Formats: sequence, structure tokens, C-alpha cells
Amino acid sequence: MKRSVLASLVLIAGMGTSNALAQPEVEVLHWWTSGGEARAVQTLMDEFQSNGGKWVDMPVAGGGGDAAMQALRARVLAGNAPTAVQLKGPSIQEWYEEGVLADLSDVGAAEKWDALLPAAIGKHMKCGGKYCAAPVNVHRVNWIWANTAVLARAGIPMPTSWEEFNEAAVKLKALGVTPLAHGGEAWQDATVFETVALGIGGPGFYQKALVELDPAALSGPTMIKVFDQMRTLRGFVDDNFSGRDWNLATAMVINGEAAFQVMGDWAKGEFTAAGKIPGKDYQCSPTPGAGFLYNVDSFAMFKVQGGDRIAGQKLLAKLIVGENFQKTFNLAKGSIPARLGTSLGQFDYCARRSSYDMDVAAGSGTLLPSYAHGMALRGQQAGAITDVVTQHFNSDMGSAQAAKMLAEAVANSR
Ligand code: BGC
Repeated sequence: MKRSVLASLVLIAGMGTSNALAQPEVEVLHWWTSGGEARAVQTLMDEFQSNGGKWVDMPVAGGGGDAAMQALRARVLAGNAPTAVQLKGPSIQEWYEEGVLADLSDVGAAEKWDALLPAAIGKHMKCGGKYCAAPVNVHRVNWIWANTAVLARAGIPMPTSWEEFNEAAVKLKALGVTPLAHGGEAWQDATVFETVALGIGGPGFYQKALVELDPAALSGPTMIKVFDQMRTLRGFVDDNFSGRDWNLATAMVINGEAAFQVMGDWAKGEFTAAGKIPGKDYQCSPTPGAGFLYNVDSFAMFKVQGGDRIAGQKLLAKLIVGENFQKTFNLAKGSIPARLGTSLGQFDYCARRSSYDMDVAAGSGTLLPSYAHGMALRGQQAGAITDVVTQHFNSDMGSAQAAKMLAEAVANSR
């Protein structure tokens, strides 16, 4: 017999509390606090509330999520985990191994996630073969964003190689424009670094160095070239880049103060929030080189007590993979839906390009996890790489020394 939604909720509620008519409730820890991100998270809040849920917001500012992850650890150690947490990649499994994640298999089975999620994404959402997280999107990391009017004034096209990028940047600098908008935070340095590694070394090199952590690839001549390009890029950022938030760097491109930004497509959420049109006001193209660096945002649910909160987790997980949410959220966020078969009819050309390139990359073995955004490596290993990258970018360290340090740091982190 088909049970009504209310009856199911009463049943679930009865498991942990005497309050049989508990309202589904979630406390959601996330780091979506920029203008574009806030618009995107609002779509999730709206969807949850219009389905009868109570949303308690726990935003922790800080791009890339480092501060949010610190806040999470503190809450879990205090025995008071938030109900739903923006979590991704191998860190989902790390938390699962600590025995603190809730099992979402019943929602996954009822909603047919096995059929609705691409295998590569589904794999990240499972712990010990069971669903333990729900994906909201696919962000592509290897993008370059540009201000159309600035490029036109300088007479330069979108660069298709790093050499072309360097030539364009020299020209822009001579015109008094900051070539590269950048915020000097470690994760932003890492974001640029991984796209340069992919572009200069190619997908095979990226896989060997930043996924398999092969010592020869980490310390070899190709990695030295990658650091050379990072040094060159350092010369194209403005003097005030240190500590700048990524969205303020995007704003420099939006207002024409800078020409380019290398950033994942959450940057598009900022252009969208500012009312800018791709192809007209700004340009998007993959950073030079082949391959697709993916970064899938997802929510994991932590083990909590109380029928209201357990019902909240199940409702949230169900809505996240739902067709409506996957569309509205990703239109605001700049990413593309994780759910197969979601229509891209309302999406712009950057999103369609992303979706097409992702399919091509999946077919040619060049769909690669972003190390800088926690999709490829465990936290300690990724942290060891980022420390060297940021130390190199913010000093006059030579490329050969940086590559040697990189291999050593990774070896010590294992
Ligand atoms: C997340 C994005 C977020 C970006 C900036 C990335 O790691 O995947 O959702 O917008 O960081 O905070």
C-alpha cells in the first residue's frame, strides 16, 4: 500500500521523539556567501521551505570552504554535528570512516539515484557501497573569464595557449590594465596551479602528478615548467592581490579593472548576479589545454537524533537530486546539473559548453578530479601540495626547488 507523505513523516518522527507531527528541520552548514552563491543557496532554502521544511542557516564565509571545514570539525568534536553539511570528494569518505555520517540509501533507492546520476558522480556519493551524500552540481574548474570590452580595446582574442595568454598579458599591462584578477589565498593559488598543470603537462601528466602522486611527475621537468608559468603569472597580478576574496577578483573583471580571471564556474554566478550576459559583457573559455577538471558540490547528512531532523535530512536529500532544484540552483550557481537528463534549455553557452566538454572528456579519459577543490586527494595530501604552491607563488623560490619540495611534501604527507 502506498503510504502518504504525512504518514511517512509521522513514522520517521516516531522513531526518535514523542512529537509525532514533527516538522522536517535541517541546520545547513555551507560556505556559499558571495553574491552569486547566496542567490544559489536561496533556491535550496526556498525549495525546502515550500515543501514544509524548517531551514536553519549556518553559513561560514571563506571561498573553497577551509573555514567551513574547521567549523564542522569543532561542531562534531563538541558532539553537536549540523544536520546537513556541504562536503565533497574523498572528505565524504573520511567523515564516514569516523562513523558520523547518516545512511541515505533509502532515499537513493526510492528516488532511483542509481539511474539518475552519472556513475563517476555516484561513486563519490557512496560510502561502503551505500549512499551517504547527495550531489547538487558539476562545477568545471579550468575556465578563464574575461571582460569583453577590455579585450576589444586591447585588440586581443581569448588565449588558446599559455604563450598567447602571456603575450596578451604583456600588452594589457602596457595599457595600464591588470591582466589577471587574483586573490592571494592558498586555495586560489592552487586553483590556478592545477589548470596550469593540466594545460602545460596535459591530462596524462595531471593524472600522474596530482591524482596518483607519482614522485617523478611531481619533481620532474614538466612540473618545473608549470612552476615557471606560475612565476610568470605572478607578474600579471596587481600589487593588492594578497588575501583578496575570489569574488572581489571576479568583480575586477566585471568592472573592467582587470582583463582575465582563472577560476571555476562559480565565478559565472557573480557575473549572473551582476546582470551580465555571457558572450556580450564577458567571455568564458576553457583554460589552455585539453581535459575537464570537475568539482562536484554535495551535501552529506550527519548522524543526529530526533524525528524532525531525520525527516529533514531525508527531505533535503530527495529535493537536492530533484529535477526542479537541479535546474534553478545551477542557473544561479554557474555550474551544470549533476542529474542526468536535466534540460539545459534555459542555460547559457558556457554551461552548454561545459556539459558538452564533460561528455567528450568522459569518453576520452580526460575527465579529471580537481585536486584544489577536494575531489582528488585526501585532505592532508592536498594540503601538502597547496602549501608548496602558495609558498612558491608568494616568494622568489625557483621552479626546480619548488618541484623538489613538492615531491618531498607529498612523500611526507602519506
Ligand atoms: C565550491 C563552490 C564554491 C567555491 C568558492 C568551491 O570549492 O565547490 O561551490 O562556490 O568553492 O567558495
